[in-house]
Amino acid sequence: MGKMVFEDPWGDGRAAFRADNRANWDERAVLHSASPGYSVNRLIDDPQALTNVVSFDLPLLGDISGLRVLHLQCHIGTDTVSLSRLGAKVTGLDFSAAAVAAGRDLAARCNADVTFVEGDAYDAAELLGAESFDLVYTGIGALCWLPRVDRWAQVVSELVPVGGRLFIREGHPMLWSIDENFTDSLVVGYPYFETSAPMTFDEPESYVETERPLTASISHSWNHGLGEIFTALLDSGMSITSFTEHDSVPWEALPGQMSMREPSGEWCLTERGERLPLSYTLTATRVK
Ligand SMILES: C[S@@+](CC[C@H](N)C(=O)[O-])C[C@H]1O[C@@H](n2cnc3c(N)ncnc32)[C@H](O)[C@@H]1O
Repeated sequence: MGKMVFEDPWGDGRAAFRADNRANWDERAVLHSASPGYSVNRLIDDPQALTNVVSFDLPLLGDISGLRVLHLQCHIGTDTVSLSRLGAKVTGLDFSAAAVAAGRDLAARCNADVTFVEGDAYDAAELLGAESFDLVYTGIGALCWLPRVDRWAQVVSELVPVGGRLFIREGHPMLWSIDENFTDSLVVGYPYFETSAPMTFDEPESYVETERPLTASISHSWNHGLGEIFTALLDSGMSITSFTEHDSVPWEALPGQMSMREPSGEWCLTERGERLPLSYTLTATRVK
């Protein structure tokens, strides 16, 4: 299909948001690599180990052995290495130089044949080539860093040939809309729909334990409603093949209101989990 033309999402005032986010993620990548929350040593010590995230994904992901997989916004490579242990030929892309360096170091220590590329998610097709992958795998706190979901969907579609697939498990947009400062009730405090202006936070703490607070603590994020995500994918020539909402998420998104579920390591609402979907898995196939 013809390429759609979008306003440059990082142009004008938005380039400054990207620069703040990159500094924030460069610092987080270093701290996360040493955090027990990312269990890097478990992957190094046990050549069979998979991250909790990839283990959770397995039933909906299916057999990926032999596939060319792109892990978009791969962070420090823990899920990326896990995907390669499932027999896929994996490339990870992230815009944080520190995350890419951490991913390369982890892959070397795990003896995993993974390629890491530094670059913006929006530039992935240009950097890696159109139709270069059988599967794009992404999520778990990825989409919220991108201002426009339509541009993201177009890139995903360009990365795979007709018949190629997307697998995303992501924080649910209803979860992203809940104000985490309330510890005894679910209060919709943030936008559900995509907004032009970002939500800007100044948070010295990350979502996993770190040995010191962040100094590059400013970040900017955007929510994207389910309808917006679906429409963006459909408009990009992708057909949605499954959509599953989950009552759990891999991080403690609402401190004070969540409990960890074993053995998955997923976090769920302690009280009446039926009130709110916390994450979703969406699969799609390029059809035109
Ligand atoms: C929460 S992490 C993704 C989590 C990942 N699934 C994991 O836990 O291993 C978000 C990642 O997105 C990356 N990121 C944010 N904005 C990006 C952009 N515009 N292009 C590429 N990567 C980006 C960050 O550097 C970070 O590594």
